[in-house]
Amino acid sequence: MRVLIVYATRTGSAAKAAELLAGYFSDARVSNLENENPNPNGYDVVIFGSGIRFGRILPPLERWLDQYWDRIRPMSKGVYICNALIDEAPKILRDNFSLQLRNSSIVVESLGGEFDPEKLSQKDRLMLKLKKKELLGRQIKSFVPCLLTDRIEAFAGEIKDAVREKEILKL
Ligand SMILES: Cc1cc2nc3c(=O)[nH]c(=O)nc-3n(C[C@H](O)[C@H](O)[C@H](O)COP(=O)(O)O)c2cc1C
Repeated sequence: MRVLIVYATRTGSAAKAAELLAGYFSDARVSNLENENPNPNGYDVVIFGSGIRFGRILPPLERWLDQYWDRIRPMSKGVYICNALIDEAPKILRDNFSLQLRNSSIVVESLGGEFDPEKLSQKDRLMLKLKKKELLGRQIKSFVPCLLTDRIEAFAGEIKDAVREKEILKL
């Protein structure tokens, strides 16, 4: 099973999630959309993910999806986001990915999130301060993000099961 995993990241969590996902497949290529623009042709499965900033996926993934959507539409695919507020994930997924994309994907999921304050720019730090203020105003007290490794394992498992089922139906 040839798997393409592409991601867009600002502070590295979508990259970490991509590498962890890749570990569950024997033939996976991982690609950072900041530096590459891989063509999904020839892969059996495509997985794409992005870190979230103020409710939005990052521009490199938006651009890649705009360019390749017609090609990946009929493919076996999985979608993930990395975000800190897990309860907001369903809304973030709805706001960023079309119904057609979500319904035609094997799995659409938040894999959790994290951030290394060292990697944040000064502007990001300020933005995060404002976000925290907003969250505290909404009585959301926990803003302690981490990647959810059990979800990453389950995500890979769902992809494998669905592709295996498809192969069996083809026989
Ligand atoms: C400036 C800023 C804005 C953020 N906005 C949101 C948000 O709206 N919702 C959310 O759930 N997490 C938000 N987060 C948390 C990130 O989505 C989380 O740290 C994620 O792991 C980042 O992924 P990345 O490192 O791949 O870019 C924000 C983080 C920063 C620094």
